[in-house]
Amino acid sequence: MVYSNKFQFVVSFFLFMLHLHASTAQNIIGGYWFADSGSPAADINSTLFTHLFCAFADTNPTNFTVTISSSNSAKFSSFTQTVQQKNPSVKTLLSIGGGASNPSTFSAMASQPTSRKSFIDSAIQLARSNNFHGVDIDWEYPSTPSDMQNFGIFSREFRTSLISEARNSGKPILLLSCAVFRSSDYYSLEMPSKAMNDSFDIINVMSYDFHGPNWFPNRTAAPASLNYQTNSGAYQVGGDQGIRSWIAAGVSRRKLAMGIPYYGYAWRLRNGSNNGLYAPANGSAFGGDGSMGYNQIRAFVSQNGARCVYNSTLVTDYCYAGTTWIGYDDVQSVAAKVNYCKNNGLLGHFVWQVASDNNWALSQTGDCQKFLIPFVDT
Ligand SMILES: *[C@@H]1O[C@H](CO)[C@@H](O)[C@H](O)[C@H]1NC(C)=O
Ligand SMILES: *[C@@H]1O[C@H](CO)[C@@H](O)[C@H](O)[C@H]1NC(C)=O
Ligand SMILES: *[C@@H]1O[C@H](CO)[C@@H](O)[C@H](O)[C@H]1NC(C)=O
Ligand SMILES: *[C@@H]1O[C@H](CO)[C@@H](O)[C@H](O)[C@H]1NC(C)=O
Ligand SMILES: *[C@@H]1O[C@H](CO)[C@@H](O)[C@H](O)[C@H]1NC(C)=O
Ligand SMILES: *[C@@H]1O[C@H](CO)[C@@H](O)[C@H](O)[C@H]1NC(C)=O
Ligand SMILES: *[C@@H]1O[C@H](CO)[C@@H](O)[C@H](O)[C@H]1NC(C)=O
Repeated sequence: MVYSNKFQFVVSFFLFMLHLHASTAQNIIGGYWFADSGSPAADINSTLFTHLFCAFADTNPTNFTVTISSSNSAKFSSFTQTVQQKNPSVKTLLSIGGGASNPSTFSAMASQPTSRKSFIDSAIQLARSNNFHGVDIDWEYPSTPSDMQNFGIFSREFRTSLISEARNSGKPILLLSCAVFRSSDYYSLEMPSKAMNDSFDIINVMSYDFHGPNWFPNRTAAPASLNYQTNSGAYQVGGDQGIRSWIAAGVSRRKLAMGIPYYGYAWRLRNGSNNGLYAPANGSAFGGDGSMGYNQIRAFVSQNGARCVYNSTLVTDYCYAGTTWIGYDDVQSVAAKVNYCKNNGLLGHFVWQVASDNNWALSQTGDCQKFLIPFVDT
């Protein structure tokens, strides 16, 4: 009797644990490490991330094989081992492309079966030989109807190749992710959402670069707010709106990761006393595109005694001193966005880029240990 009770207890406890396991899932916290930032991979506090993206590998425009530049090859081949020293369970992905890569190379690659095969086979080979757990596709951006169709074909072929490679090698299947535009349509051209949903494990939505002084010079505005304000004169775009568009297009919430920028943009105010959102401005404060890493923004704040404001309606931070005005995400915005991802049942969030954090203040806001969430697939 006693034995049977114990047995029943063990069985039901086991079933309970199984249920618990099946009904909870960790939110992913992705971080891009940009080799060109100059900050070594060994400096990443990898305990704060579940996935790290090693950026970027390139595509040879002639034969469409994926390559790692000679200046990055040693850093990339040791990346996984390096970041796993602090966090043995962190997953790493080799990221291909990026904002500075030529979109017409991707476009040409995706247009032909032979070039797609060169790209896919070499990407898989490179990921395996450099000990990555996956591949990340960062094509910025598919921008014609044929690009959209070809990206869908490419995505499905990549998935098929991953399945057969895993079967043939006996190794765990590689992860496949992509970094995509803020919304499921690129200036009214629909992305191939169904093929993407069926092919990718993670879809990193670049929910940032909504406003910057080089393309929105005459007023201050939030670079990456979660919400937008109507009748403000600013673009009617926001992170939430973009995520909703991807869900409406048929992408599972549990594939979507929202992007959080570890940078902002600095405008030059026309009048230092008129320093709110949508205040009159005259382009970039410091020349260039006005972008500043979060660590540089915090240094600016302490050196200039800048005033910092969190706007909870839009979900953005900004700070100003003299005639410099910087829109960015501080801990309040990051916390609100991480909660948004959690409350909406998204897979998680990712950040660009880890080296711009300031003593890990932003990354600790999204600490993966704190975000064990109930799994709700809808
Ligand atoms: C890394 O993050 C963990 C978790 O927040 C923290 O305990 C640790 O102090 C951090 N390490 C460094 C070097 O900042
Ligand atoms: C592609 O071109 C590169 C550079 O010319 C070369 O190193 C590589 O071997 C070529 N790969 C294939 C599969 O032809
Ligand atoms: C900004 O203002 C200048 C002159 O005041 C004007 O020429 C320009 O078109 C404006 N730019 C935008 C993007 O509205
Ligand atoms: C998207 O993918 C998920 C998981 O693979 C699947 O359950 C869901 O049915 C897919 N959605 C659509 C619209 O195909
Ligand atoms: C600057 O803005 C303040 C507050 O709106 C206003 O009182 C002041 O007249 C403005 N200065 C100039 C030169 O326009
Ligand atoms: C705006 O900035 C440009 C340089 O970027 C400068 O030439 C111009 O004088 C500025 N306009 C005003 C009104 O400050
Ligand atoms: C946020 O900014 C908008 C636009 O300027 C403003 O209407 C709103 O009152 C602000 N909200 C908070 C909480 O500061």
